[in-house]
Amino acid sequence: MMPATTGGDTVTATQDILQHTEGGVLTLTLNRPQRKNALTSAMYATLAEALDRAANDAAVRVVVIQGQEAMFSAGNDIEEFLHQPPAGTDSPVFRFLRAIATFPKPLLAAVCGPAVGIGTTMLFHCDLVYAGDNAAFSMPFVNLGLCAEGASSLIAPQMFGYHRAAEALLLGEPIYAEAALEVGLVNKVLPPHETNGYTQQVARKLAAKPLTSLVETKRLMKGAQQAAVLQRMAEEGAIFGRMLREPAAKEAFAAFLEKRTPDFSRL
Ligand code: COA
Repeated sequence: MMPATTGGDTVTATQDILQHTEGGVLTLTLNRPQRKNALTSAMYATLAEALDRAANDAAVRVVVIQGQEAMFSAGNDIEEFLHQPPAGTDSPVFRFLRAIATFPKPLLAAVCGPAVGIGTTMLFHCDLVYAGDNAAFSMPFVNLGLCAEGASSLIAPQMFGYHRAAEALLLGEPIYAEAALEVGLVNKVLPPHETNGYTQQVARKLAAKPLTSLVETKRLMKGAQQAAVLQRMAEEGAIFGRMLREPAAKEAFAAFLEKRTPDFSRL
């Protein structure tokens, strides 16, 4: 474990993110199976630092984010949301969001099983997404007394069309693999046991191409919208940060941890 400074907060780099570089491909594996790969501050800090390093490391040409065959991520750790909510734009989660939104090289994701909350919104910032046929993408922010994050309020309507984005963000219901393919959230659906391997093959193919051409082309595709994405992330983050501390979210988190249905009737 290495101590790391993250904009005022000191967190610890964590074994919950595995890092492996081979053939120009850095693979970041979410590895907290006992909590369904729920993301902690330490995990966000490790991911943000790995991406920042990779952006400037000539040995890394492509990055892959993956989970396991049955689980991508249960989203933000709910116990942390309840007891140590992120404070301010220098917190690890915001550093991670900015790092994926501005990452200059190709960024791929392999997603099997549930991808909840930021487990889905991080995918809006990946260039290619491959899904197992068991993948379920959900953004249940409203059901938790929260609001959209990760620039999902901007990108989901653009990508899915407004009504399907409203279904995903207002109802918070899962989008299963085939529907995710149809709305353009994923590039291809595969058997879960082939998903990580297939994504590695694509990453290797990209790593063999001229890096400057990849970087310039990605910049040209995403550049016009980048300022708007960062601005929306900040705007959502300020509202989300306030809502995390309000009664509806606190009731939703307590209910999840106590394994009961939340009671919003007096809120
Ligand atoms: N934060 C903290 N702990 C979490 C978690 C999270 N986001 N997601 C799961 N866990 C914990 C559970 O509390 C449980 O702990 P326990 O073993 O002490 O009881 C353990 O991980 C296993 O989770 P469980 O819910 O039993 O697994 P499952 O396979 O039945 O369901 C999910 C998987 C992802 C569908 C479900 O765990 C879930 O909905 N998680 C919360 C997702 C969420 O709302 N995230 C926040 C988005 S903003």
